[in-house]
Amino acid sequence: MSKPDNTVKDALALGPENWADGEDPLARRRGGRIGAPVSRLDGPLKVRGKAPFAAEFPAEGMAYAALVFSTIAKGRIATLDTAAAEAAPGVVLVMTYRNAPRMRPMQQFDSSEKAGGADTLPIMQDERVYWNGQPIALVLAETQEQADHAASLVRVTYEPGHAVTSFAEAKANGTDTGDFHGPLHLEIGDAEEALRAAAVSVDVTYRTPPHNHNAIEPHATTLAWHGDELVVHDATQLVTHTAWTLAHIFGVDESQVHVTSPFVGGGFGGKLVAQHQVLGAAAARLAGRPVRIALPREGVYRLIGGRARTEQRVAIGASEEGRFTALIHTGTSATTRHSAWPEPFMLAAHSHYAAGTFLLDLQTAYVDMVANGSMRAPGGAVGVYALECTVDEVAAKLGMDPVELRIRNEPATGPTDGRPFSSRHVVEAWRAGAERFGWAGRNPVPGAVRDGEWLVGMGCAAASHPYVRMPGGAARITLTDKGLARVEVAAHDMGMGTETAQTQVAAERLGLEPGQVSFRYGDSALPGLVPAAGSQQSASIGAAVVAAQHALVAELLKLVSDDSPLAGLEADEIGAVNGGLAKLDEPERYESYPSILAGAGREEVSVEASGPPPLEMMNWSMHSFGAMFCEVRVNAVTGETRVSRFLGSIDCGRVLNPKTAGSQLRGGIVMGLGLGLALMEETQFDERRGRILNASLAEYHVPVHLDVPEIDLIWTDLPDPHAPAGARGIGELGITGAGAAVANAIFNATGKRVRDLPLTPDKLL
Ligand code: MOS
Repeated sequence: MSKPDNTVKDALALGPENWADGEDPLARRRGGRIGAPVSRLDGPLKVRGKAPFAAEFPAEGMAYAALVFSTIAKGRIATLDTAAAEAAPGVVLVMTYRNAPRMRPMQQFDSSEKAGGADTLPIMQDERVYWNGQPIALVLAETQEQADHAASLVRVTYEPGHAVTSFAEAKANGTDTGDFHGPLHLEIGDAEEALRAAAVSVDVTYRTPPHNHNAIEPHATTLAWHGDELVVHDATQLVTHTAWTLAHIFGVDESQVHVTSPFVGGGFGGKLVAQHQVLGAAAARLAGRPVRIALPREGVYRLIGGRARTEQRVAIGASEEGRFTALIHTGTSATTRHSAWPEPFMLAAHSHYAAGTFLLDLQTAYVDMVANGSMRAPGGAVGVYALECTVDEVAAKLGMDPVELRIRNEPATGPTDGRPFSSRHVVEAWRAGAERFGWAGRNPVPGAVRDGEWLVGMGCAAASHPYVRMPGGAARITLTDKGLARVEVAAHDMGMGTETAQTQVAAERLGLEPGQVSFRYGDSALPGLVPAAGSQQSASIGAAVVAAQHALVAELLKLVSDDSPLAGLEADEIGAVNGGLAKLDEPERYESYPSILAGAGREEVSVEASGPPPLEMMNWSMHSFGAMFCEVRVNAVTGETRVSRFLGSIDCGRVLNPKTAGSQLRGGIVMGLGLGLALMEETQFDERRGRILNASLAEYHVPVHLDVPEIDLIWTDLPDPHAPAGARGIGELGITGAGAAVANAIFNATGKRVRDLPLTPDKLL
């Protein structure tokens, strides 16, 4: 995040930044559409099995795909024998580099406006192998079982090359400064010197393993070519990007690729464009048939990169009073040369604490493996873990309460850029959380509380995630003469409740009841491009809906008759209320939508508009925050940890829908229990062969219901005046801080500080 230059600063004065409802005196009369705990609108469809997922779309003449994965990490295919597979029952096609169509490599997500690729490698174009698990053949057959069987008959031998698969070798080969919207390096003052001079200091190394994506719905695509037109039903976080990326790869126009993704069973950063969609489309073209390619769970591990391994140094220097004088967060993450994702673990240092000096740096070391990718709270999940455990170490060393230590270092402005906070109520969140959790009852002496075999401890940690609003959000609003509105945005609902919350937002904006608004999404034919990523969909959609609503008012004013109460008014004098428009400071001047449309003889009015550029991100330090509290019980005999209580006290601006927001946050916290705490999550990467060993949910452990206690949530619920609808992001916030709270509770319970995730029982004995 670079500082704004003057051009941008000048433009800021013009930006329509004030989005919270305070701007509109009618808003308070609209009656709580935003903020109501509305149940998921798509819930009944899902419960009844009526929500079609990507692998459930039917097609006449469908062929089913299975992939063959390489078993070496680098080298060349020496021999490839597909005869037995081709002769197997039901086989339609065996595609390898020999017969695959010529395709351009993907353009990686974030490298251009609509690029959505997960890596930049050539896709099945020659005999080269880049990672252990790379697809080297695709089999199409009449049934999935026939395809799976035939894939097992493909015979391949390799000429292996030298693969860098050990982290030690990768680091020894030399590293580069990571890049994540700018170089991941920042120095403010002389942090090393300040650390040496500090009255109290902690200087430690935390290590986190790689993690793999395990959405409930494995990646899947159903697609068909109609001439040069490609129709794709995909499980994706970015319909528009997927359409553009596939068009680019196959050399057709973007308008010739139509992607739908009405329901997605979890994305978490893993559902971008990966090689399976491309290979599926290539095979469909070769075979002239619709294709379904649904990855088996193992395939998700082989094809979809997750969170990178990290080794992080966190050093904090503090005065006797506990004021931070130095904050150092540096280290290395493992990445591949064909992916653009460092694991930016030091981002939280930009928002958590005032410190006199900073040294932040991320080095990337290069390994040969599947392109690591984005995984819920990239950087933050593992970085906040290390930072917040280190803060706990400082508190222990100072003999100071960790909540008080954090409050003592509360920054007045953005710690590293000096920007004012758009809205920050972290201290209130800490105080309210401590009160509700009963923090005052915590025994600060580690290992002092015992209940039979169980050591009991309480810990806390801060959570944070940057506010993001990606450019490109646009919305179409169509209003009918019945006073019903359809709002259309190329956005996504991956289970987080987008449709529900956005129906509420749009209803409030339009002065309608939620039942009068329908929200359409998940289709590349709709306006704009709003990826469900970066915890930014609500902001992006919200800004687009605000813009479209303004355009709608302007359009409706053109239609009002001369004797309308609204005649002669300007758009900015008007608000939407009670199913129509009214003058803001004179609400009796009102006309309903049906009356306006009837008067003009129109059945419907449709407008489309884009959200303004996201200048708020440059003008303000904007982050969502949380104060996380946890109680654990660690078995003194077996080392087993059980999380017995958890509370998140959240400051994320206005809560659009406490029910869906609560589910989002709880999901993040559950992931944090499994990951940040890493009571269990760990990709076991064989450094000799570069292969993931535990490529199944039987061996890659994630939390299940019995692992998860009641998760209590409270929020400040104070609208952020600089975020659309007053709401900052929540999708990724929950996973940050949760693991540190658990680890700090384990320290309080046992006196053991384990700095290598996951915190499995063997490490606690
Ligand atoms: Mo995300 S990791 O921005 O889907």
